[in-house]
Amino acid sequence: MPTAGTVPAATATPVFAMSGVTVTFGGLTALSEVDLEVAPGQVLGVIGPNGAGKTTLFNVACGFTRPDTGTLAWQGADVTGVRPHRLAGLGIARTLQGLGLFNGMTVLDNVVVGLDRAARAGFWSGLLALPRSSRDERRLRERAMATLDELGIAEHARRYPGALPYALRKRVALARALVADPDLLMLDEPASGLSEEEMESLGALITSLRDRMSVMLVEHHMDLVMNVCDRLVVLDFGRVIARGAPAEVRDDPAVLAAYLGVDAHGHDAEGDR
Ligand SMILES: Nc1ncnc2c1ncn2[C@@H]1O[C@H](COP(=O)(O)OP(=O)(O)OP(=O)(O)O)[C@@H](O)[C@H]1O
Ligand SMILES: [Mg+2]
Repeated sequence: MPTAGTVPAATATPVFAMSGVTVTFGGLTALSEVDLEVAPGQVLGVIGPNGAGKTTLFNVACGFTRPDTGTLAWQGADVTGVRPHRLAGLGIARTLQGLGLFNGMTVLDNVVVGLDRAARAGFWSGLLALPRSSRDERRLRERAMATLDELGIAEHARRYPGALPYALRKRVALARALVADPDLLMLDEPASGLSEEEMESLGALITSLRDRMSVMLVEHHMDLVMNVCDRLVVLDFGRVIARGAPAEVRDDPAVLAAYLGVDAHGHDAEGDR
């Protein structure tokens, strides 16, 4: 049974859902009975202190980590145990914290890789039957270029990722995830290493994606999360301790306690002094 927060009445089939997900590493429970849903067009934030289980949850959602118990559903269909590349083919795209760009390829070609991956996994298979003609190649590159343009980095298309500052490399990784027009975009700590200004621009971008896709955002930076998320799920020690609208969650005593090391009655973690 979920112990914290309330689950709103479903208005539409969630794009993605996890139910009763538990993951253990040896004796350590990294996730315990986690339920969450991402609604169409929703930006769902997953937050929590260090070691709360956020990356583990992200890895489960991408298919990298198979849960010990629990189920995953994509558009209402069971996808528990489905491999990462097949989930990608269903319309789930992700960026990882290590950006995973190919330094020997131009920025443009790195983004084309995003289309290739989606194609190989069955997404867009009609368009991209191999071997490809030069016309197909041109279409892929045009599409990748349009995505770079949308993200404001078209001028860097012919450069190599290693020559770009970190914030721009992060944008390239985002372009690669967005280029196949996924239904769910999953971002693991997209704001790490960004300046305040870059973070604001990232926030505006995420907000603008809402019309086209759902977003799951695993993030440390509370400002970003509070600004862009429709709903939040808060993890602590692998459990969901709160869920709801950002403003509700921010004032939740259990969340304050988890972040500030004080208990719900205002005592600090060391006890009374
Ligand atoms: N592969 C693994 N083997 C053993 N323990 C792991 C593994 N991955 C994570 N853990 C442990 O599981 C718990 C949750 O880790 P996780 O990385 O999911 O937390 P997190 O919320 O992403 O933390 P952070 O904010 O520091 O990134 C931690 O106690 C961590 O040490
Ligand atoms: Mg993490």
